[in-house]
Amino acid sequence: MSDSIAITSGKGGVGKTTIAVNLSIALKKIASSIFLLDTDLGMANSHVLLGVNPDLTIAEVISGEKKIEDVVMPSKSGVNLISGGTAESNLLNVDNTKRYSILNEIDNHLEKQKDVKLVVDIAAGAEDNALVFAMACDRIVIVIVGEPTSFIDSYALMKAIYSKSSFKNYCIVVNQVEDDNQGKELFKKFQEITTKFLDISLHYVGSIKSSSKIKKSIINRTPILSKEPKSEISQSFLGIAKNIYKTPVNEWGGLTFLSKVKKRA
Ligand SMILES: Nc1ncnc2c1ncn2[C@@H]1O[C@H](COP(=O)(O)OP(=O)(O)OP(=O)(O)O)[C@@H](O)[C@H]1O
Ligand SMILES: [Mg+2]
Repeated sequence: MSDSIAITSGKGGVGKTTIAVNLSIALKKIASSIFLLDTDLGMANSHVLLGVNPDLTIAEVISGEKKIEDVVMPSKSGVNLISGGTAESNLLNVDNTKRYSILNEIDNHLEKQKDVKLVVDIAAGAEDNALVFAMACDRIVIVIVGEPTSFIDSYALMKAIYSKSSFKNYCIVVNQVEDDNQGKELFKKFQEITTKFLDISLHYVGSIKSSSKIKKSIINRTPILSKEPKSEISQSFLGIAKNIYKTPVNEWGGLTFLSKVKKRA
């Protein structure tokens, strides 16, 4: 069973944070301890959506003032948030050695938890810094929307990940659709284009409708899955969580989250 999921996208602003937060809440149905690592320092951060005010972030771990366990922020939704730092000091702008040592620290903390799952909100694009985190996860979710720029940038992202790690499996979520049929059609088009040039497998794990409720959930700082768990949108997130677990995991020799837990299982 997989233990870590990276939420990525080629283009920014397509819904990664929204999906990372709601997916984390959905995963509470299958695991008792969920951690969300926010490495994406975009506009609407995970902490905003989760209604958490993180006084302490990875910045304090980077500076050596705090340990990982001190900066884990519980939220009302039950998801434990690890905030990725500040604009000045964050996981993306430290050197490689430091980044790996912090990743190890996070990993050691997670390994102490029982029945744990990790979701990582990754910054958009194919920057090396962001890819380190994506490749440390055993499943990669790519969020796309029905725009040519999203397709092109997501293709470039998968190509970059593939060339570094040979990861073959990519879960695709199509966001901001009118209905699931549109999601499936967009996925087919995307799959046709990308698999022509790359020897990879794309797995359709679901779509999310465009909805004003999602915008409102940010303003209210309450994720839709916490507020209206029975709504259609919430059911989509639950379906996506289930489908992700039906897809094969990626394996490689590099640094991975929760590898020791996997070995024990
Ligand atoms: N299905 C949806 N329906 C309506 N609005 C949505 C939907 N998904 C995301 N949004 C809105 O789109 C905006 C961007 O979403 P979000 O912050 O989750 O994207 P992101 O990919 O994390 O962005 P960034 O690359 O800046 O980190 C937010 O205002 C969010 O409310
Ligand atoms: Mg984001």
